[in-house]
Amino acid sequence: MTGLDRPTAEALIGARLSPRRRDHAHRVAAEAVVLAERHGAPRDKAELAGLLHDYCRELSDEEMLAAARRHGIPVGPVEARRPRKILHGPVAAAELLELGLDPEVAAAIRLHTVGDEGMSVLEKCIYLADYVEPGRDFPGLDEVRALAETSLDAAVGAAARLTLLDIIRKGRGVVPGALRLYNETHAGQ
Ligand SMILES: [Fe+2]
Ligand SMILES: [Fe+2]
Repeated sequence: MTGLDRPTAEALIGARLSPRRRDHAHRVAAEAVVLAERHGAPRDKAELAGLLHDYCRELSDEEMLAAARRHGIPVGPVEARRPRKILHGPVAAAELLELGLDPEVAAAIRLHTVGDEGMSVLEKCIYLADYVEPGRDFPGLDEVRALAETSLDAAVGAAARLTLLDIIRKGRGVVPGALRLYNETHAGQ
């Protein structure tokens, strides 16, 4: 296989992330493998995406905006208000693509925070793995974990809804991808 391998991924996050966030990345990778095997996504790609998904999470807001500009990543008003939170996925995907990362893995990293409509099984597995990894604990999570046992789409839909509710409760802006994912997963409701 060409592109980045697991030892390279470990070295990359070792150089960029705090021990706490590296632990999170390992838990997401392990969860992503479970979900990929259960729901039919490539195991090694899921593991790699889990390890690398927060590669750029610890950049400053200024560094994130500069990187977004450099890579031609669109920055709307909501992204501009919270660059680190919302842009760390797209920026990591762009940087890792330049290092030779598999495009499907990069796409899963790009979408892991916000999501979008039309996601692949691999992309859904990473979105969900980040949401349900064992280090998380918040109201509604057990329901999403239970759904993830049987239906990837139902679990992703529930996670998208809870995320949106939380953002709106806090009075924050919603990025379009999050709304598209919510609408796609709740179209029949
Ligand atoms: Fe993240
Ligand atoms: Fe994460």
